[in-house]
Parts: sequence; C-alpha cells; structure tokens
Amino acid sequence: MADSGVRAVAVLGTGLMGAAIARVLAKSGCVVTVWNRTAEKAKVLAELDGITAADTAADAVAFADVTLVVLLNSAHVEAAFAGVDLAGRTIVNLVTGTPDEMAGLGDLVTSRGGRYLAGAIAGYPQDIGAEKGALVYSGSAEIYNELKGTLVKLGGRSTLVSERLGGAAATIAALGGFAVVAITAYIEAIAFVQSEGVALDKLGDVTDTVLGVVESGIAESARAIQAGDFETDQAALRTYLKAFETFMEAFDSAGSRSVLIGALTKNLADGVAAGYGNKALAALAKLPRELDVQLI
Ligand SMILES: NC(=O)c1ccc[n+]([C@@H]2O[C@H](COP(=O)([O-])OP(=O)(O)OC[C@H]3O[C@@H](n4cnc5c(N)ncnc54)[C@H](OP(=O)(O)O)[C@@H]3O)[C@@H](O)[C@H]2O)c1
Repeated sequence: MADSGVRAVAVLGTGLMGAAIARVLAKSGCVVTVWNRTAEKAKVLAELDGITAADTAADAVAFADVTLVVLLNSAHVEAAFAGVDLAGRTIVNLVTGTPDEMAGLGDLVTSRGGRYLAGAIAGYPQDIGAEKGALVYSGSAEIYNELKGTLVKLGGRSTLVSERLGGAAATIAALGGFAVVAITAYIEAIAFVQSEGVALDKLGDVTDTVLGVVESGIAESARAIQAGDFETDQAALRTYLKAFETFMEAFDSAGSRSVLIGALTKNLADGVAAGYGNKALAALAKLPRELDVQLI
C-alpha cells in the first residue's frame, strides 16, 4: 500500500530525541501531539506551531494516526502503555532496545489489537530531518510502506532492514558499535603515536588514506561474507597477525593503553588458530563466539 499521508502523529517522550522528532514533523506539516512524563517539557514544545501537548499517553495515542515512541528504554514503553487503548492504533517504537525487547513490545501491541513497527535511530537529534539521516525499521513491509512518506521526513535514508522485529535493533547495535569502536580505536592510536613525537596535525593526509582503506575494506568484507568467498590475493590473516604482534610490542614499550588493538590481535590469533591463516580478514566472521580450546 502506498503512503497514506499520515498527518496526525503522536510522540511519546520529549527528551532530546523526541523533541527533535516532534519539531521536524510539525515543520513538515504534520499535526503533532506530544506526551511526556515531565509535563513541562511537553508544554514548552507545544508553544511551537503544529504541536499540542496531551495530558496522558492514552490521549496522545487516541488522537494520532501513528504514534512514535521515544522514551529512554523498553521498560518505560511498557509502563507508558499501561491502560492505553491500543486497538487499531499504529505504534512505531524508536526506543533503543535489544532485538528481544523490540519483538516483545511488538507482541504486547498486537495482542491488544494494535499494529507495530520497530525502529532505531542512527545519529543524533541534530541529524533528524536531514537528507542523509538514517533511521532503520523492521517488521511488516506493509506497515512500513504505508508510513514511509512520513518516516522519510525524519531521515532521507530511512530503510526497512528486515521483516523480523529485532532487525532494526540489531542493525543499530552492530553499526553503532562499529562506529564507536572505530572512533575509540582512533583515540587509542593517536594517544600512542604522540608518545613517539608525532604531531597530530601531520596526520591529516595519512588518516584520509587510511579512511579510504577502511571504506574499501568493509565493502570487500561484506562482499566476501555474502559470497562465502574468503580467498585473498592481498593480505592473509597470518600476515595481519604478525604485523599486529609487532604493533602490540610498540604500544607496550611506549607504555600506551592497547585495549582495542589488543582485542584485535586476539581476534586475529583466534582466526589463525581456527585454520584461517591463509584467508582474508573476512574469515573472522566464521569464528564462533568462543573458540573451541581444541583448536588452539
Ligand atoms: N540522543 C541521541 O543522540 C539518541 C540517538 C539514537 C537513539 N536515541 C534513543 O532515543 C531514546 C530517547 O533518548 P533521548 O536522547 O531523547 O533521552 P533523554 O533526553 O534522556 O529523554 C528521555 C525520555 O525518556 C523519558 N523517561 C525517562 N525515564 C522515564 C520513566 N521512568 N518513565 C517515563 N518516561 C521516562 C523522559 O521523560 P522525562 O522528561 O520525564 O525525564 C524523556 O522523555 C533512547 O532510547 C535513546 O537511546 C537517542
């Protein structure tokens, strides 16, 4: 079904993220009702054109074609829905939760006659409404397609990633984890490099080149994993392991913190121990959660 032109939207939770979402929707022409536990915050928002504050979550939900939930965690969603008539209502849950929590809240909504889409936000409040903003959704394609015209107002690159309700939460855990691990690995790296007298303002070009390596490396790894093809004519896992054992020595002799590079070196050693020494980095995806000690 094409987008039905949702106009009346409720937003439950007007913290930093919920307020940004309510403002962007109101600006785009939606009629927005907000509810927040601390009523003052909702009232301040309701001074803007197109936004009204509801006294209760039930009133907000009853008013809207679709309700977006932007509370802090899944327990708050369950509590906020207590006594709310969800029959025939469409709920989009944007609260950060585990895949199981997202699915559990889906069961709760549908058992009370409602329709449910799980979502997750990649970015900060300042990214809401941006062309490159990305929110990811999971669940019914029919509900997603129906709401798409409204949901893309929150982020031009919004996507339905899976019909399983946990898919959006898993995507954000995975890619959010990747982004922050990458940033903090950079922090660990530049703390080390300064110990050898390297000035950070000299690193611009080489950092740029390395970011290109990251970009091509993740694209190649995704291709390899999808194709199940772990051959390489560039660099084998055992070669990475030797190099990172040397890098670890350098960090250690400088007395630098090496938690993340140490975790990577352990991961490479596990890959080699599991028999993937002559394979590409992507072969690490084949490792089990715990390596069988027999393999080492
Ligand atoms: N901020 C970000 O950059 C960002 C990015 C991606 C995803 N998210 C997700 O968006 C959601 C909201 O985050 P936020 O940044 O807006 O957080 P926030 O500014 O701390 O707002 C939290 C919201 O949850 C409500 N809340 C907290 N405890 C509650 C309780 N016990 N009962 C009922 N309501 C309660 C707050 O109400 P009160 O005003 O009454 O405290 C407020 O509406 C979270 O799941 C977060 O992980 C945030």
